[in-house]
Amino acid sequence: MRRRRILVLVHEDLVPPEFLDGYTEKEIQSWKTEFDVTSNLRKMGHDVRALGVSSDLGTIREAILEFKPHVAFNMLEEFHGVALYDQHVVSYLELMRQPYTGCNPRGLTLAHDKALSKKVLAYHRIRAPRFQVFEMGRKVRRRSDLALPLLVKSLTEDASLGISQKSIVASDEKLRERVEFIHASIGTDAIAEQYIEGRELYVGMMGNRRLQLLPIWEMRFTNLPEGAPAIATEKVKWDEKYQDQIGIKTGPATDLPDGAEARIVKLCKRAYRQLGMSGYARMDLRLNDDGGVFLIEANPNPQLACDEEFAESAAHVGISYEDLLHRIVGMGIRYRAQWREVR
Ligand SMILES: Nc1ncnc2c1ncn2[C@@H]1O[C@H](COP(=O)(O)OP(=O)(O)O)[C@@H](O)[C@H]1O
Ligand SMILES: [Mg+2]
Repeated sequence: MRRRRILVLVHEDLVPPEFLDGYTEKEIQSWKTEFDVTSNLRKMGHDVRALGVSSDLGTIREAILEFKPHVAFNMLEEFHGVALYDQHVVSYLELMRQPYTGCNPRGLTLAHDKALSKKVLAYHRIRAPRFQVFEMGRKVRRRSDLALPLLVKSLTEDASLGISQKSIVASDEKLRERVEFIHASIGTDAIAEQYIEGRELYVGMMGNRRLQLLPIWEMRFTNLPEGAPAIATEKVKWDEKYQDQIGIKTGPATDLPDGAEARIVKLCKRAYRQLGMSGYARMDLRLNDDGGVFLIEANPNPQLACDEEFAESAAHVGISYEDLLHRIVGMGIRYRAQWREVR
């Protein structure tokens, strides 16, 4: 690929340094993804500028006008501290006719909303858990067609924020308690979903029109105490000691039941298309004991650190980290946003 000017958009607090010398493990962890992406893009010979963004569109505009990037590498996950506002920043990039990596604004809007996305999926008969939304300040009354047990989580936050073993509720009283907990501690509406007992699978995907799927990846819980549910709680995702304790292992999914792989591939492709996604994504799935596949969540612009599932599953099929970034940049440059179709 030619040498490109790449403007990497990152959260203001996560602007990575050029070198790791002198930083503690904890500091490095906070901006690991940002560092991996910028340092590798530089290694690949690109002209890279990292721009910290939190609540000022002006800085983006100035950087675009002055630096004239071939592509903006979008690593933002919020604006004004609001997780859902990242879609508006991408809209702004389109309004500035600025090519960018990752998902388009419409795909972000549809996929990020855990209720809206499932409504679209239901129309297309793509299997996802049944659900009910519990808004802040409203009485918690379960719909009669939604059976217990349920899993209660934030409607809009990610990273398993607010998800623990207590998130699975088997009575109306526990449901009310957990919904109130999400309202009070996370400060967002809550969603309660049919709890899918089974295996935890992830599928990395790339593409605008033609889609490429990475191998089906599994998070296994090899040393979970008797009766504890195998779900990716906040602690499972972020506490390394706890991960060791309960024997978390991630890698290619093996021994899938007959026909499951084909069903998973089909479901992922259909969901990606129907949610209007582009760039790259990671699908979170559950596979129950009957071989039934459910889409839990479609994640546009998933974490890209070189030791996260997305990059690891790519490496497993011979796509190096640099090659992965190369593809993501290329798809960003080639994406046909609507402004490009105007003559
Ligand atoms: N309906 C569900 N049934 C079973 N497990 C679930 C369900 N919803 C969420 N989980 C568990 O919680 C984890 C996080 O939920 P997810 O919806 O992916 O939110 P996040 O955006 O925080 O990743 C999932 O990876 C899964 O282990
Ligand atoms: Mg998830």
